[in-house]
Order: sequence, then C-alpha cells, then structure tokens
Amino acid sequence: MKIAVIGTGYVGLVSGVCFADLGNEVICVDKVASKIAMLRQGEVPIYEPGLRELIQKNVAAGRLSFDDELSGAVRQSDIVILAVGTPSLPSGEANLAYIEQAAQEIALAMNGYKIVMTKSTVPVGTNERIQQIIGQFSGYPFDVVSVPEFLREGSAIQDTLYPDRIIVGTDSVRAGETVVGLHRPLTDNIIVTDIRSAEMIKYASNAFLATKISFINEIANICEKLGADVTKVAEGMGYDKRIGSSFLQAGIGYGGSCFPKDTGALIQIAGNVNYEFKLLKAVVEVNKDQRFNVIAKLKESLGDLKGKTIGIWGLAFKPNTDDVRDAPSIEIVETLLAKGASIRLYDPVAMSTFKAVVNDPSLVWCDDPYETAEHCDALCLLTEWDEFRQVDLVQTEALMKQPILIDGRNVFSGEQIAITNFCYYSVGRPSMR
Ligand code: UGA
Repeated sequence: MKIAVIGTGYVGLVSGVCFADLGNEVICVDKVASKIAMLRQGEVPIYEPGLRELIQKNVAAGRLSFDDELSGAVRQSDIVILAVGTPSLPSGEANLAYIEQAAQEIALAMNGYKIVMTKSTVPVGTNERIQQIIGQFSGYPFDVVSVPEFLREGSAIQDTLYPDRIIVGTDSVRAGETVVGLHRPLTDNIIVTDIRSAEMIKYASNAFLATKISFINEIANICEKLGADVTKVAEGMGYDKRIGSSFLQAGIGYGGSCFPKDTGALIQIAGNVNYEFKLLKAVVEVNKDQRFNVIAKLKESLGDLKGKTIGIWGLAFKPNTDDVRDAPSIEIVETLLAKGASIRLYDPVAMSTFKAVVNDPSLVWCDDPYETAEHCDALCLLTEWDEFRQVDLVQTEALMKQPILIDGRNVFSGEQIAITNFCYYSVGRPSMR
C-alpha cells in the first residue's frame, strides 16, 4: 500500500519505518524542515535502538522517504496516518491543535478516496471531530479509522513488529478491512470495534499500567516500614495469572511522555462528563510523591543536604532512551539544588536532553559512573541502565567521601552490597548498613 505518515515523533517515525519494512511505500512528513533534512541524511532525531539501521535499510530499498510538504505525500497515498503530538494543556487536557490543523491540511490536499488512520492518542470523540473537519474541507470520500499505538520507547521497533494486539476502531466495513489487511502480517490478534471504544482502550490501558506502578510503589513504601521485601512480594503476586508479573517493579515512579500526560487527560475526559475518576487521581498523587522518597532517604542518611555532594546515576525516564520528559530525575535534581547540594551527573545517552531542561551552572557533568562517584557524600541511581548493573561497587565506594547508595530502581542485590561498606537504601527492601 502507499502510506503517508504525518508527524515524525516516536509513533510516526517507528510506524512509518515498520510499515515500509513490511513492503509498503511510505512517505514520512513533518513540518519541521530541519528534522526532515536530518532524516534524509540518515540521521535520526531520537535515540531508539535499531531505528537508524531500519531507516537506512528501507530508504536504500526505495520504500521509505521523507518530506516537509504534506500535500504531495497525501495525494500519492491510499492511507494517511495521523501521528502528530497531543501535548498536555495546563489543565491536563490534551491539546488537539496539531491534530485539527493536520486534518484540515489533509482534507485540502485530497485528490480521491483516502483512509485517515489516527495513531495519535486522542480523547474519546476526537476522531469524530477529525471526520467533521475533513468533511468540511474536502469533497472527496474518506474514512477515519482509530488505530491506537501501544509501542514503548526503547523497544519501539520490537513492539511495533510483534504487537500483543491491534485495535481497529471504525464505522466503515471497507476501511476496516483495508486496515486489518495492512496489520495482518504483524498479528492475528486484531480487534475491530467502534471508534469511541478504540480511543478509550488506549487511555484505559495506559491508566491501568500507571495504576499497577503506583500500587506496587505504595506496597513498597509499606514493606519498608514492615521489613518485607517488595521484589519478593511482586514476584509472589505475579505468578497469579490474573495479576501478571509485568509493571510491578517498584521504583521512583513513572515518567515519560505518555503515562503522566494520558492519566491527566483521562481524569479531564471523565471530568468533562461529570465523572470524578477518584482512583486515577490517587494514582497520579502517589506517583508525584514517590520520587521524593529519594530525598527523604538522603536526609535520613546525611542530615542537612546543604554543601553535600550527591552523584546521580541515570537521568532518562527509563533505560534505552534519551527522553527526559516528565522524568522523576528533573524534580529530584531541582530539589537537591534548592537544598544547596552540589550535584555530579551521568547518563549514558540523556545528558544533552537533560541539559536542555535543567542547566544550572553548578551541575558537574561526568563521563562515566566512576567519575560521577568521585568525592560524593552519596550516590543516587535513578535509571536502571545496564551500564550501572555492571559497575564495580567496591571501586565506586573507594572513590566516595561517604559510602551511601540510594538505589531508586532496586538494581543491586543483597549479595552485591554485602561485599561493600555501602550504607544501602533501595525501594521497598530492607536497608543495609
Ligand atoms: C507507555 C506504554 O507502556 C506503551 O504501551 C504506550 O504505547 C506508551 O506509553 C504510549 O502511550 O505512547 P513508555 O512511556 O514508552 O510506554 O514506557 P514504559 O515502559 O511503559 O514505562 C513508563 C514508565 O513507567 C517509566 O518511567 C518506567 O520506569 C516506569 N515503570 C514501568 C515502573 O516504574 N515500574 C514498572 O514496573 C514499569
């Protein structure tokens, strides 16, 4: 099939290149000309394992191209994928300005029947609004199909090529069959439903996963007080098939461009129809508080943080990405700065994205985990990069002023800590001194 993808963020770029890899002819479009220029030169604007290679392969095969002009791409295509951003407004509500503008531009460019497939995460009812806009600005026949995206940053290609399920929300049998056919090479597990339910499936899925995380984080906080070990509790719970073992890793809370935005949006969506989503509000509150446990543990071990040197291992909201959007590390570093601590930081790939958000002149940017540890009163691990799992803790400890380690992601085992003198705090596990 011939496909135009509007928006080259995570969702657009990864979907575009994966559909090209399946043998379709794909043009990825973005208004930001500099992004398109980069992509044309084989450079990838985001860090995502395997993406650069897959782009190069499909460009070389002549199936994938990039353009900063939407109309030509739309005219050449059977399917137009809408993958523009829906950032949060200050109220928490999704900002639909980019969606509405893209819908209008698609409508004005149309030269015959098109399927518009929405992959952006949009509030229930938005695809109907897209139908309305396209109908208003174009005389050509079209169908709008909602196909929400479930890929995760850091494993985006794998998630796209091997999805758990594909959701196709449509009110048109013709468009539904085409979109099911497009996805058939990826999985047989394709659920066809109405548009509103498809839109809701996306929000409900992200809200449920966020709920699992806040739930296990609260269990962890209680475990700390009772002397239980949350990793054992989660393992024991996870064997129950009804619960499942994934998304039960206690830590410093969820971040990223999706859970914080989508939970806020769903609370708003419910509020708009006079429903107070009490459970989800609590999930968000718990998540906001969880990161401050790192500060509380630092205070418990060091007392006043003024003048203390703190090392930070990991800034990205999770491993295998340079994304720091809504990362707990931002508020943790800002709080430490406000308390008068000196900070040394290291992340394998997210230092420049972090610098763009927090760039206090006093921050000391380091080249590796050991340099970060030098002369520190305490170290905090905030992102569970593999590189940190392989660190020699005895060597690390020798570089520090005081051997204090706050492990915000439960990366290290009791055995690893036992051979050191670290005063070790993790999440929901007994501390070790
Ligand atoms: C999430 C969903 O997992 C995807 O299915 C969805 O498509 C995507 O949002 C989206 O809406 O676009 P993502 O934000 O890339 O994907 O990352 P996740 O792997 O879900 O992690 C989110 C956050 O939860 C991270 O900060 C991670 O550290 C945290 N987390 C995850 C935990 O604290 N504990 C866990 O057990 C799992």
